[in-house]
Amino acid sequence: MRGYSKNIPQGGLRRRPRSGKLKVKGVDGVRVDREKVRDFFDGCAAGWDAGRMADPQKLRAILAAAGVVPGARVLDVACGTGVLFPYYLELGAESVTGVDISPEMLKAAAAKFSDPRIRLVCGDAQELAGGEYDCVVVFNALPHFPDPAALIVSLSALLVPGGRLTVAHDRCRASINGWHEQTASSVSRGLPDAESLSRLFVPQLIPDTVLDGDDRYIVSGTKAKEEH
Ligand SMILES: C[S@@+](CC[C@H](N)C(=O)[O-])C[C@H]1O[C@@H](n2cnc3c(N)ncnc32)[C@H](O)[C@@H]1O
Repeated sequence: MRGYSKNIPQGGLRRRPRSGKLKVKGVDGVRVDREKVRDFFDGCAAGWDAGRMADPQKLRAILAAAGVVPGARVLDVACGTGVLFPYYLELGAESVTGVDISPEMLKAAAAKFSDPRIRLVCGDAQELAGGEYDCVVVFNALPHFPDPAALIVSLSALLVPGGRLTVAHDRCRASINGWHEQTASSVSRGLPDAESLSRLFVPQLIPDTVLDGDDRYIVSGTKAKEEH
């Protein structure tokens, strides 16, 4: 389905794939429960945009690593209020699908955007079925997923061969983990180091950007093209 809808549909659901666990120093040990996550972010939605200070240059650099180019079909996983949407459109994305588990975050996104290239889906991103995307972006959201390895497997399946998966934050890992310990410890399992996360990309994806920087975190890779 294409097009923008104020009646936010529930995503098609399928069973989650099983895979190994990744230990994260910091908040790890927390069992991230999706109802708790949904309620937590529903509660954040009203003040979300006012509480954010996005640096457009940094966001553009993240989307360059994500490989968003004119004509790209983008899936924004855990899109929240759609902070990245204007940047995808500025780059000439053909379509932007935003999925989020929090109805209130999506309502805020729906109130802001009316571009027909944007579509919103309410549900657990890990259970999305179908779709063919050139770029899948998980921005400022990985710690809220219970099993990063399983998430990577399921998101990789949504990419076309040659498509890219990118997990990014616009702050450094220490700052994210410190902030989550203070404010979101019940809904965060912490952000792993970029090197460890990149190992989970293999074998579905070939990681080519692994950055645990002072002011950003990016792990990005390409889905292998099928051999003929
Ligand atoms: C820290 S917010 C980031 C939102 C947005 N990406 C941004 O940078 O403003 C994390 C988002 O992840 C969403 N989320 C958490 N678990 C999710 C899941 N399993 N499926 C879809 N969205 C999820 C939350 O509802 C929330 O909107």
